[in-house]
Amino acid sequence: MKKVTIHTLRKMKQAGERITMLTAYDASFARLLDQVEIDVLLVGDSLGMVVQGHDTTLPVTMDQMVYHCAAVARGTEHAHLVGDMPFGSYQAGADEAVKNAMRLVAEGGMEAVKLEGGADYCDVIARIVRAGIPVMGHIGLTPQSVHKMGGYVVQGRGEDKAARMIADARALEKAGCYSLILEAIPGDLGAEITRSVGIPTIGIGAGLECDGQVLVVYDLLGMNPEFSPKFVKKYANLAEVIGEAAARYRDEVRAGAFPADEHTFSAEKPAAKPAPQSQAKAAVPIHLAIPSNGEERPLKLYSVPGCE
Ligand code: KIV
Repeated sequence: MKKVTIHTLRKMKQAGERITMLTAYDASFARLLDQVEIDVLLVGDSLGMVVQGHDTTLPVTMDQMVYHCAAVARGTEHAHLVGDMPFGSYQAGADEAVKNAMRLVAEGGMEAVKLEGGADYCDVIARIVRAGIPVMGHIGLTPQSVHKMGGYVVQGRGEDKAARMIADARALEKAGCYSLILEAIPGDLGAEITRSVGIPTIGIGAGLECDGQVLVVYDLLGMNPEFSPKFVKKYANLAEVIGEAAARYRDEVRAGAFPADEHTFSAEKPAAKPAPQSQAKAAVPIHLAIPSNGEERPLKLYSVPGCE
């Protein structure tokens, strides 16, 4: 599997190959999504809503973004990694924006940053790009401006607003953005913006004609039965799967059916089994010297395959 870069994404647009992008917030999810060759993983500030339980993305801090970015980076080998600039990390000026973008790259292991806003942010974007950091733009419904928009409402309806959004997209490309998120806009406008710029567009509620698609991974997995907006397709119903699994566990613990014998350690050491070739290295116990008596004891980690 080859590493996906900003050049890969541009070539995909040119070749008419659709780009796949999902959000990820931790190493376990990142690993699973990377294994099925999702092209781009976004550590979105949507984590404020789906992980932290806020009503908006506004309370998410830079330190929290860095923490989640680093976790996702540890779980990823192949996907292109984009970190979201949270509310307040770039709006106050280019100097602060550059410093914060650098943190997402240097401490968070990201390969690009994303920020919300149109032509007003061209100077900030140009400064971040000049510092060597690729920037993904984000126009249409920009959740950090929820109060200015008066809620999470479709953007770019009507000729004037559509024309302004096309102008924004062109200005962001000129400022140095390598890609654009188009969120919650009419499908025709998504198609027109995609034709108007040379950089890949990635839509979320922006129709089929964008160069790629992105979804919040918790939405795609159906983690919240109360959240079913028009632009989301639920490819699984994990709310039900998780609820059923947790309820079975609850019932078995209450009934004394879990843990069973096979989940319980015996007093005697079991006869050594040859470890499978692929796990042989991981299963070797680590010998720790206990300082008080100098005695060496094998330490087995619970996640080591073959721990018995
Ligand atoms: O924060 C996020 O997850 C996003 C995507 C919805 C594009 O910005």
